[in-house]
Amino acid sequence: MPKLSIQDLDVRGQRVLVRVDFNVPLGADGQITDDSRIRAALPTLDYLLERGARVILCSHLGRPKGGPDPSMSLRPVAQNLTELIHRPVAFVDDCIGEKVEKTVAILQNGDCLLLENLRFHPEEEANDPVFAKKLAAYADLYVNDAFGSAHRAHASTEGVTRFIKQSAAGFLMEKELKYLGEELDRPERPFVAILGGAKVSDKISVIESLLDKADRLLVGGAMAYTFLKSQGIRTGGSLVENDRLDVSKRILDLAEKKGRRFLLPADHVVARRVETDRLDKKGRKIVEFQDAKPSADASIEEGWCGVDIGPRTLADYQSALADARTVFWNGPMGIFENKNFAKGTYEIARAVAGRGGVKSIVGGGDSVKAIHSSGLADKITFLSTGGGASLEFLEGKTLPGVAALTDK
Ligand code: 3PG
Repeated sequence: MPKLSIQDLDVRGQRVLVRVDFNVPLGADGQITDDSRIRAALPTLDYLLERGARVILCSHLGRPKGGPDPSMSLRPVAQNLTELIHRPVAFVDDCIGEKVEKTVAILQNGDCLLLENLRFHPEEEANDPVFAKKLAAYADLYVNDAFGSAHRAHASTEGVTRFIKQSAAGFLMEKELKYLGEELDRPERPFVAILGGAKVSDKISVIESLLDKADRLLVGGAMAYTFLKSQGIRTGGSLVENDRLDVSKRILDLAEKKGRRFLLPADHVVARRVETDRLDKKGRKIVEFQDAKPSADASIEEGWCGVDIGPRTLADYQSALADARTVFWNGPMGIFENKNFAKGTYEIARAVAGRGGVKSIVGGGDSVKAIHSSGLADKITFLSTGGGASLEFLEGKTLPGVAALTDK
């Protein structure tokens, strides 16, 4: 890695500003429902605290609209972190200002402080230099361990590095870059990539990049229906991006030209869709389904829509994975939140996790969720904490949060 690593820093007695990605899901009661992003930062935090650094943690949570919003406070994270690191984590209800200054001034070696949500100040996302300079003033050194936010050029990920002498990558950042970078650039073959999720439009560049690297691509989720329709196959009422049919066709042609196997579902689980105007407690539209049934082939009748891959597809995908030495998976195979349409996603999770000696890398919130809920997390080589950041990195884009770190 051409950038400074946390291991290159002399941290004893130093105030270290650590940008973490503690953008964790909170339940209706304000409790953290999945703390894997917090746990993923522990190697960096333990390393700094054990070496007597004075740690100042900063993060965003959610997307507050221009000011403080108590429902997106990081306070519950301070509590969770206290339990995880077995030492008190101080919390200040702002990320800049007098209270922060005073608390930082009394930090001792091995103390840990968490600042309030950076995005309560619009200057964070605007990458405002005055705001960045204020953050930087609290510390002697900067460590970025927020891979999940590295695709954002914000004050705490990019701007701050202009005002601090040394800016280094934390252990999580390094691990993400190693697995999503080196390991997929020079994979042990066969290398099989599995892509799912709702939209082709989100993943065009990732697919193009994987066509250069992977031997086989297996496609599921609603994005498969756009590919199928681009081949003239009937998709009924399935979710299709009609403005992406041309690009889907172009990708299939490209795959053929490059000699890659590009597998699309040969059958589906289909359901009648009843879209209601009802909203759930979080204000999300509720989409209800009824009458699920398997469809015999790749085409779907009018009045039905695809909600999961079918049994034949699953068997095809399992055999395409059987001799893989490297597997990358991003995106569910169907609407797995509904247990009637979850089989494809969970069986793929099992196929990815199932065999020893295979390097398995899983990225993207939903596929990671499926791995966790099937209890297979310890059988996966690497679970990425990045959503948008993983995709942008795989596309080959420069991540501003990485580019800004000090060169070795
Ligand atoms: C994520 O959850 O992908 C990161 O925390 C980035 O969040 P953002 O998309 O709101 O910038």
